[in-house]
Amino acid sequence: MTSDELLARIRLNGAVPRHVAIIMDGNGRWARERHLPRALGHRNGMKSVREAVEGSIQAGLEVLSLFAFSQENWQRPVTEVTALMSLLEEYVEREKAELIANGVRVRVIGDLDRLSPAARQAVDGVMDATAHNDRLTVQLFISYGARAELVRAARRLAAAAVEGTLDPADIDEDAFRAHLYTNGSPDPDLLIRTSGEQRISNFMLWQLAYTELHIIPVLWPDFTRRDLFAAILEYQSRERRFGKVTA
Ligand code: FPP
Repeated sequence: MTSDELLARIRLNGAVPRHVAIIMDGNGRWARERHLPRALGHRNGMKSVREAVEGSIQAGLEVLSLFAFSQENWQRPVTEVTALMSLLEEYVEREKAELIANGVRVRVIGDLDRLSPAARQAVDGVMDATAHNDRLTVQLFISYGARAELVRAARRLAAAAVEGTLDPADIDEDAFRAHLYTNGSPDPDLLIRTSGEQRISNFMLWQLAYTELHIIPVLWPDFTRRDLFAAILEYQSRERRFGKVTA
């Protein structure tokens, strides 16, 4: 089926997921298969980011979350980290006008204090410039780790308790959720991971509690909107019970 045919089927089925998250994996293997430097795998992965964003708009998603750079990724060789950071800046600068024209709001999530001043300026710029858009929210996870996000939330709650503005007895799931980076965003309905690895890799551990998983062998630089549509179509055939039984 072509991507248009898949899209037509998705629309016939009715409800689409509100929020799709993607672990973009396999750039390195894609490059190695072609005897290219890893940085070229990441560069080609940028085209797939565009495919995912445009496909999400076409499908009518509210939120697209992309895991672009984990906290653990800081431990990669400095040349690769530098290449990824400059790609990020390049992506933001090059796509900003298009994102604005398409009504996309960009939210960059993670420990942004670790970014270089130039990368930080680029991400702050695109967040400001797109803050009022509401067609699609793209959450770009950079320098992000879910355990660190949970620890940060716990620390903030503890600080409020020590200050006396929060009674520990009032700490419930909603209070905890409010201190996550993703506050205000619905939990992902569907998680796609490319390159066949069957892991969560410290991504949105809280938010993924009831998310449907969809793992495909495609390496990220080969990912197109057709893969996104096929995943959504398959998701629409699943039954989500959230731990309950079907009525
Ligand atoms: C995983 O492949 C991918 C990454 C660590 C980086 C993802 C970055 C991009 C898709 C491009 C830049 C994105 C934006 C938003 C500008 P890997 O290197 O772990 O691949 P491997 O497992 O095959 O080695």
